Amino acid sequence: MLYVGGKWVEDGELAVHPEDRGYNFGDGIYEVVRIYKGRLYMWDAHIARLLRSAREIKLELPWSEKDLTEIARQLMEKNNISENDDATLYLQVSRGAAPRVHDIPAGIEPVLMGFVRPKARPLADLKKGLTAQLIEDIRWLRCDIKTLNLLGAVLVKQYAKDAGAQESILHRNGTVTECSASNLFAVKDGALYTHQADHLILHGITRQVVIELAKQNGIAVHEEAFDIDFLKQADEVFLTSTTAEVMPIISIDGQPVGGGSVGPVVQKLQALFEQHIS
Ligand code: PDD
Repeated sequence: MLYVGGKWVEDGELAVHPEDRGYNFGDGIYEVVRIYKGRLYMWDAHIARLLRSAREIKLELPWSEKDLTEIARQLMEKNNISENDDATLYLQVSRGAAPRVHDIPAGIEPVLMGFVRPKARPLADLKKGLTAQLIEDIRWLRCDIKTLNLLGAVLVKQYAKDAGAQESILHRNGTVTECSASNLFAVKDGALYTHQADHLILHGITRQVVIELAKQNGIAVHEEAFDIDFLKQADEVFLTSTTAEVMPIISIDGQPVGGGSVGPVVQKLQALFEQHIS
């Protein structure tokens, strides 16, 4: 069952207003939250980011954190998520439905929508790693907002796939930013490098968890932008996201990263992450 605008609806049931601004403009925000063994992971951080995204797009949310937590709980319950299940929760808030004008109509009511889907951890890929292609970052300049406008992300991922790779690594004029739906890290001489959390990347929750785990375990972290040359000289490269966890990148543009297999720093971070989620 899905939650749409205050109602419980079955999969496939008509639920979106034709003039919903999320649908017409991508005017809204979202979160993808991990459920490990029937429990929401890093829920408070996701709620905090949703509230921040709302503020940044001038969207006033009528729900409290408690309301949202209750809806998430009911979504899991109605979809029979038990303590054995790994899943994802998708939550989005559209600005709401109104006759189509570009500026923000007064008195419009936001529409909250949520669903839960079973989702196994990507265990095989975590061991083997993914291939990646460098692609120009064609997205807008507020990538820190988790907005429903994802066409840039859709296209860069497809360009990478068309080039025969599994992931896109994005760059703006040679400065590496992140991936289509994940953050990017390079490892050089045992230290981590990742783009600073500014307007050019999403402030990933997994990114933050990994930064903290690294620091607690004596691995230096540099939150600073680096270029393509630095990336190509890296000893190890990995991406992070809610669904991909700590995912190794083993080749970029057809060239092996480091030794072309999953390196020791990534393996260490994967082990720390594993402990953190269990
Ligand atoms: N993507 N960067 C971008 C552009 C993202 O879309 C995401 C998340 C991340 C990683 O953030 P987090 O660690 O908080 O999941 C970084 C989600 C999973 C998605 O759109 O499916």
